[in-house]
Amino acid sequence: MLPTLHTTRLTLSPFTPADAPLVQRYAGDARVASMAAFIPHPYPDGLAEQWIASHLPDHLARTSTTLAIRERDTGELRGAIGLILTLEKRLGEVGYWVGAPFWNQGICTEAARRIIQYGFDDLALETIRAHHFPHNPASGHVMKKAGMTRIGVIPRCTPKDGQLLDAIQWQILKTDFDTQGE
Ligand SMILES: CC(C)(COP(=O)(O)OP(=O)(O)OC[C@H]1O[C@@H](n2cnc3c(N)ncnc32)[C@H](O)[C@@H]1OP(=O)(O)O)[C@@H](O)C(=O)NCCC(=O)NCCS
Repeated sequence: MLPTLHTTRLTLSPFTPADAPLVQRYAGDARVASMAAFIPHPYPDGLAEQWIASHLPDHLARTSTTLAIRERDTGELRGAIGLILTLEKRLGEVGYWVGAPFWNQGICTEAARRIIQYGFDDLALETIRAHHFPHNPASGHVMKKAGMTRIGVIPRCTPKDGQLLDAIQWQILKTDFDTQGE
């Protein structure tokens, strides 16, 4: 079973097939797709349904855990957040998007803090990393606000739309996370 997690304002819960039209609209928006390594633009019909159907098998295989970001009060979809897992290294890679109408309201930072806590407390990870493209400083700002440390740039590392783009890498260790709350 995929988990359901709560924060003050948000619920992180499994996607359902009913979310597919909004996933296509929000993730397929060029402002979102251009910042994310694996989101195509235009976003083809049927891809959102396929993506949602992959979440439970991937979670059961312990290769990734992906959750919807929803308003806690209304259940309305705001975005997606997940961890790609390399359990033999006790390593997770966090990734996310938020629908453009809801940007700059602190949603992603709140969701990122919660999934990092889930990764350390429930999945026993030791390290959680994230990376963003140089043209996406907002995502770096989220990583910083979520307690991560910038560890460097891997040049020409991530394919996007036929180009290889630099990846700016961030990470947080469990030991650092444990002491941040003190
Ligand atoms: C990155 C993204 C998830 C952030 O979501 P969000 O809910 O708006 O994030 P938050 O509101 O928690 O934080 C955004 C922060 O970035 C800041 N920010 C916005 N645009 C910025 C810019 N151009 N440069 C620097 N900081 C910027 C905001 O001011 C805010 O910081 P603040 O709270 O200190 O004011 C969202 O912009 C998004 O979905 N982008 C497209 C997809 C994407 O980038 N995914 C991640 C791939 S690595």
